[in-house]
Amino acid sequence: MSTIEAEVDALRSEALEALTQADGEAAREAWRAEWLGRKDGRLTLRLRALKDAPPESRAALGKSLNELKATLEAELEARRDSARAAALSADAALDVTLPGRPQSLGRLHPVTQTMNDCIAAFAEMGFRVFEGPEVEWSRYNFDAVRIPDDHPARDMWDTIWIDTLIEGERQILLRTHTSPNQIRVMEQTEPPVRVIVPGKCYRQEATDATHEWMLTQIEGLAVDEGVRMSDLKGTLYAFARRLFGEDRRIIFHHSYFPFVEPGVEMAIDCFLCRAGGSDCRTCHDTGWIEILGAGMVHPEIIENAGYDSSRYTGFAFGVGIERVAMLRWGIEDIRHFYQNDLRFLRQF
Ligand code: PHE
Repeated sequence: MSTIEAEVDALRSEALEALTQADGEAAREAWRAEWLGRKDGRLTLRLRALKDAPPESRAALGKSLNELKATLEAELEARRDSARAAALSADAALDVTLPGRPQSLGRLHPVTQTMNDCIAAFAEMGFRVFEGPEVEWSRYNFDAVRIPDDHPARDMWDTIWIDTLIEGERQILLRTHTSPNQIRVMEQTEPPVRVIVPGKCYRQEATDATHEWMLTQIEGLAVDEGVRMSDLKGTLYAFARRLFGEDRRIIFHHSYFPFVEPGVEMAIDCFLCRAGGSDCRTCHDTGWIEILGAGMVHPEIIENAGYDSSRYTGFAFGVGIERVAMLRWGIEDIRHFYQNDLRFLRQF
């Protein structure tokens, strides 16, 4: 073996041995600087010293040293590659061979879906959408719709009040129904009026299969010359047929709401017992489930709005959206809607 070969061999063994000892990227980088560093790497210095080598051996030495340089660079790259591969397979989250995770698609809540369908049904009949506040003055929620303070009718809506006192009195509440918007709409527009007002309402009441402390309503209001009870019935029949199909039975009962005269409740046959119940917890064996209150707008309310009640008449209604959703899908308990149980929500 020539002295040149012997020298280069010794360098190679030392460098490769040191590389096997270099554990981790920092150690590999230190090794690279020591051997291949541009300024004072050991191999770099050796190559630079070539010019002082005896002319007869210079070419052979240069060739060997350059081959060694290529070997060291390739070995370093190989060590880095295998370190990267090891890190990848050690970290399961980065296993690129795993199948992708499916994105689950969201969908609209069943109450929102039903709300949208109800809005569409009324919109087709020419009703425009109006929105009012959920935090409401008691003046609008009660007084303006003919439910004065201390009137027993206030008991029909157990109220969630806001603590803030104004002039020493509680005046702000979470609206118990969407009816205050009858007034808000009439204050802002001239007849003819044909609006629906969708939104959440709040009642401080014990929950059961058909009652929740938060509920969704759509208020409807139509005021014009010559609006009659038959218009109310026709509108609500059309709505019920659109949502439930022709075969559902509908019944109007006389009822009392201070802001309408006469007042009615519209009910639909119970989907569970089909109006022939015994121990039916949805309809309490009445066979019917009330889905809305309605009636002819009280003339006093028309007058208070600044309309001439001898010229204008109107009807109003308030639909409970959760009830409508329950009837459509045969849901037996209103409390399912707001418990966020995905096993329930995924069914719609
Ligand atoms: N606001 C009434 C309720 O909550 C429903 C209703 C609206 C009745 C319009 C008659 C007319 O319960």
